[in-house]
Amino acid sequence: MPRLEHLGVAIRDADAAIALYERLFGYTPYKREVVGEQGVETIFLDAGGAKIELLEAIRPDSPIAGFIEKRGEGLHHLAFEVRDIDATMQRLRDEGFRLLNDEPRRGADEKLIVFVHPKDTGGVLVEFCQRSPLPFEPEYAPFRDGQIAYYLGGQADGPPLVLMHAALGSTELETQRLLPTFDQHFRTIAVDFAAHGRSSAFAEEELTLEFFAEAVPAVLDHLGIARAHVFGFSMGGSSALHFALNYPDRIDRLVVHGMNVQWDEGEVETMADAMAGALGRDVPRWAKRLAETHGTERWQDLVRRMVIFTEALPEHYVPDDELAQITAPTLVSAGDRDRYFRIEHALNLWRTLPDARLAIHPGLDHPIQGVDPGRFAALVTDFLLDQ
Ligand code: CO
Repeated sequence: MPRLEHLGVAIRDADAAIALYERLFGYTPYKREVVGEQGVETIFLDAGGAKIELLEAIRPDSPIAGFIEKRGEGLHHLAFEVRDIDATMQRLRDEGFRLLNDEPRRGADEKLIVFVHPKDTGGVLVEFCQRSPLPFEPEYAPFRDGQIAYYLGGQADGPPLVLMHAALGSTELETQRLLPTFDQHFRTIAVDFAAHGRSSAFAEEELTLEFFAEAVPAVLDHLGIARAHVFGFSMGGSSALHFALNYPDRIDRLVVHGMNVQWDEGEVETMADAMAGALGRDVPRWAKRLAETHGTERWQDLVRRMVIFTEALPEHYVPDDELAQITAPTLVSAGDRDRYFRIEHALNLWRTLPDARLAIHPGLDHPIQGVDPGRFAALVTDFLLDQ
């Protein structure tokens, strides 16, 4: 039987709606995500175990803009989770229901979705959704006493592009969203860091940026690739800089987003507290996601190790004179509302690197789910292909 997964509410203005739900219930958003294909930004609230999805149009041709034009703000749809969306679509068609899309579409929150025509459902717009983990399996490169998982895709003869995710993230959670665009231009190699996602735990190793960065040559060697472009988000960007420092002959162009290698104690405390919060009882949805991503038996150990990693970041401060040795053309990218990274870090990195360009994204907070994946990946692609 399908389970009620969330309620969708059409809103005009995200800031106003968030303030309203805070005032009315005390709810604060736990996730924001742009779904470019639907022309919406989605904001998720945890309503005591139930989920509310606020939908704001980001383009005039978005279905939410049309809905608000006709009916104003308000309840937009009910969403029901099913195990097999293809089978559900077939069943609905057989029952004579009209569907608003012929194929499942990518929705927010790693879901495949389909809508049923409201004229066939008593005036209520009904969504069916299925959780969609990566549609393909990783491959593995030997590394130290374990394996690094990576996802290979895109053009077999395209320029290689390595993608690296954030601390406590994974390819599935983060960099996957950018692959549909990158796959059109590059041979994509999306890496799960040591102890993250589908890679081995490397329980005996101390987790450091230098150690994480060593995964890149391991995977490139395994694939017989001499040089690659590298994209890194957050900790992936910091690791990418270390890779560029230690392997200058193996990097073509570098893109780093939402990252830093010059931490002070205060910044580190904010991040370590946020990570340690996953172990408490306050954010059950995040804990569930971490368990799904890194394994039920090992996610808590990973969080503990990453808190230690984070607290040690000031000891791994990379001074300007070292950064100045990175000659690879680099795009430094950052959101101007990033809760963890002061924009001064991005500006300093851009000024210090000998060949850098700068992209600042207005209104963007830290999570990469906040970018429009198609537009963001297109900007990165233009830089990497030097257009
Ligand atoms: Co929905």
